[in-house]
Amino acid sequence: MAPDAVRQMHLGLFLLGTGSHIAGWRYPGACDSFQDFSAMREIAAIAERGRFDLIFLGDNLYADPLAHPSYTARLEPLTLLSALAATTTHIGLGATASTTYSDPFTVARAFASLDHISGGRAAWNAVTSASPAAGANFGRAHPAHADRYAIAEEFVAVVRGLWDCWDEDAIVADRATGQYIDPAKVRTLDHTGQHFNVKGPLNIGRSPQGRPVILQAGGSAPGQRLAAMTADVVFSVVQDFSEAQHQYAAFKQLVAAHGRAPDSVALLPGVMPVVARTDREALDILGTLQGFIDGGNAMAMLSERFGTDMRAYDLDAPVPDLPLPDSYHSFVGALLGKARRESLTLRDLYNLVAAARGHWVLCGSAERVADTLEHWFREGAADGFNVMPPYFPDGLSDFVDLVVPILQDRGLFRREYAGATLRGHLGLGPPWDGCNPYALT
Ligand SMILES: Cc1cc2nc3c(=O)[nH]c(=O)nc-3n(C[C@H](O)[C@H](O)[C@H](O)COP(=O)(O)O)c2cc1C
Repeated sequence: MAPDAVRQMHLGLFLLGTGSHIAGWRYPGACDSFQDFSAMREIAAIAERGRFDLIFLGDNLYADPLAHPSYTARLEPLTLLSALAATTTHIGLGATASTTYSDPFTVARAFASLDHISGGRAAWNAVTSASPAAGANFGRAHPAHADRYAIAEEFVAVVRGLWDCWDEDAIVADRATGQYIDPAKVRTLDHTGQHFNVKGPLNIGRSPQGRPVILQAGGSAPGQRLAAMTADVVFSVVQDFSEAQHQYAAFKQLVAAHGRAPDSVALLPGVMPVVARTDREALDILGTLQGFIDGGNAMAMLSERFGTDMRAYDLDAPVPDLPLPDSYHSFVGALLGKARRESLTLRDLYNLVAAARGHWVLCGSAERVADTLEHWFREGAADGFNVMPPYFPDGLSDFVDLVVPILQDRGLFRREYAGATLRGHLGLGPPWDGCNPYALT
């Protein structure tokens, strides 16, 4: 961020076609498909009207018919974003690709392509894939948590190295001389590592952003390390303000310890806003949604998050003292912390996980929601938010029409896009500012 610039929030839209709430699709009028492109196009248009920084698509690599519907029957993220790139003009487009079950050349190439197609709006969420279920679809054993992150560090370095193989002006296309590419401006990578051997260069020229934006969402120590080293935007899982404030301070310190400016990485906690004109109306919406929860689905999601069959425990007893699983440290850490602080039963957690998949639920009038977001933003708990509407499109349009104008009136959020690239929305310069673009870091 430029020194004299006014600090404003960044807003990401976490897009799940059936809504973040496990039963959001049952809400009257709600979209009930994550495979319906025309509905996704409408949602993207609403987010762009709300001047969101980016749309984010998560992904997993297996299907469990009991799991959240949008994680089970869904469009492949990069394919969907390539189509949305053609129907939108400014909003960033972030997709998830796994560092455990992909290869760096393909990922670097795909995101460079999306960056070209969208005119500089691509972002890659580098995830390690928490669930062992993916391994069975790729004929591989699921690596342990520490190994997944060791692979991820090398993977991200290789992808960045591949993006950096091309100078911006390497394609000269000189009709007079007949020279198309200046070979002096394209280098091999020649990476030989513990997990990958990649010669390079990539078969696509430097993309408009120089490097697509990197997103990260790991909550464990190695996840935070990877984020501090490489990410431009970090998604977090929090349940209350003091936890978010503590996490924010610790993460910004870690970024500085890795030699980067703390404000060059935006930390966006996830929030599921249930918003209406009054607190009463918002509570009624949440009550309706919670009434739709199916026990089997909610239990499957709780078990997925905790990496163990939670049916073994008494729902009405206090949350058992479970260790952090090999799968998610982020979600389980936040949920266990809340359970201990507030003496919750397992049923309370089960309802929370079914509501927002383990994320923070913020329910109230538009003023209340805006006040809370402002408080978190001003008091060192967030650089903005990863907004997770419980259902679409109204859960999003209510936020855009009721909350965003309040944030804009308070000077906390943009009224118009100032530039055309995601790096621009995030206040980031070209990736090679102040660093050697060709170093494998
Ligand atoms: C907002 C958010 C989005 C995420 N999206 C995905 C995803 O799409 N696919 C995935 O496999 N993991 C996803 N994760 C999980 C993490 O990126 C990470 O893999 C997981 O939390 C395990 O790492 P940890 O133990 O470091 O937390 C997401 C987490 C958060 C907070």
